[in-house]
Amino acid sequence: MKTITLFEGDGIGPEITQATLDVIQALQLPLQFEKYDIGQTAYEKCGELIPTVSIDSIKKNKVALKAPVTTPVGKGFRSVNVQLRIIFDLYANVRPAKLLPNVKSRYENIDLIVFRENTEDLYIGEETVISADEVHAIKKITRKGSERIIRSAFEYAVNNNRKKVTCVHKANILKKSDGLFLDIFNTIKEEYPQIEANDVIVDNACMQLVMRPEQFDIMVMPNLYGDILSDLTSGLIGGLGLLPSAQMNDEYAIFEAVHGSAPDIAGKGIANPTALLLSACMMLDYLGYQQEANKVRNAIIKTLANLEDCTPDLGGKSSTTHYTQKIISNL
Ligand code: NAI
Repeated sequence: MKTITLFEGDGIGPEITQATLDVIQALQLPLQFEKYDIGQTAYEKCGELIPTVSIDSIKKNKVALKAPVTTPVGKGFRSVNVQLRIIFDLYANVRPAKLLPNVKSRYENIDLIVFRENTEDLYIGEETVISADEVHAIKKITRKGSERIIRSAFEYAVNNNRKKVTCVHKANILKKSDGLFLDIFNTIKEEYPQIEANDVIVDNACMQLVMRPEQFDIMVMPNLYGDILSDLTSGLIGGLGLLPSAQMNDEYAIFEAVHGSAPDIAGKGIANPTALLLSACMMLDYLGYQQEANKVRNAIIKTLANLEDCTPDLGGKSSTTHYTQKIISNL
């Protein structure tokens, strides 16, 4: 029996977690979940955003499924997600944007994956107040950090029969920092002659994604561009409610939806659980249950065919529970 650490999160977190568990449990796999708190709920219960027991559980189980959390707004609170990435050095944030059949979108044939560097760039949070009118923020790009995310993008391409890796950067302006990232990309690509490789400046990448997204396959980039571009890619495939992710290194993996805790719809029973469920499918792939993961993906596609069974963000009128039950009956 494999044990997985489970975080129900805040806002819509508990609703979409229950839905995801209901579907996974219907597969009757030898998996069990160990539930801990992080985020606002943990803070309200024990005064800590990331309690030690929660960290210890990830250390023990190595794999976690995490619903979105709310970082309380106010001075002194560092984002729970950024902290988790740093504690476990989860350098690769993998965000696949695949347009599922039956989802309404302006596009066709989108099947791209953003590899976002997850531990460096402006997200190290080193900001210095120079004066009341001036603040400086540090953008950190290292050889080690760049090499490992770029290499994992190429390795993924090779192992999953993908054709092309695109580096997204702003090396024309940030000549030293993004310049280093691009130099490393250009060196590593030589080791993978079977994979097509190119690079695109981030502003052009945004335009190209909106105009001709089908040209992209694997995209690798520093942290900030990865954060922004992956939300953009969610818009191409039907919205945030459909975009899963994995944050990982060679030892640990945390699977979660890209979206946040959606306080505006929390408690209404209308949240779309698909992104968390697809993240759980990535987890099943990772644990060696590819067949079962594909079974869930097919059940989701089948359910999406009938708009009446879908949640409001997809244009339907159904509740989270109704949509989930339909997926289970389509398994
Ligand atoms: P958000 O992603 O929670 O919501 C943006 C919009 O998308 C809202 O209108 C929301 O209703 C909708 N939405 C998101 N997920 C949905 C779903 N599954 N089904 C239907 N509609 C959905 O982003 P926002 O409002 O900027 O952030 C809210 C909170 O979430 C903040 O406290 C933020 O810090 C946190 N957050 C947490 C993340 C995580 O834990 N991974 C990631 C992003 C934000």
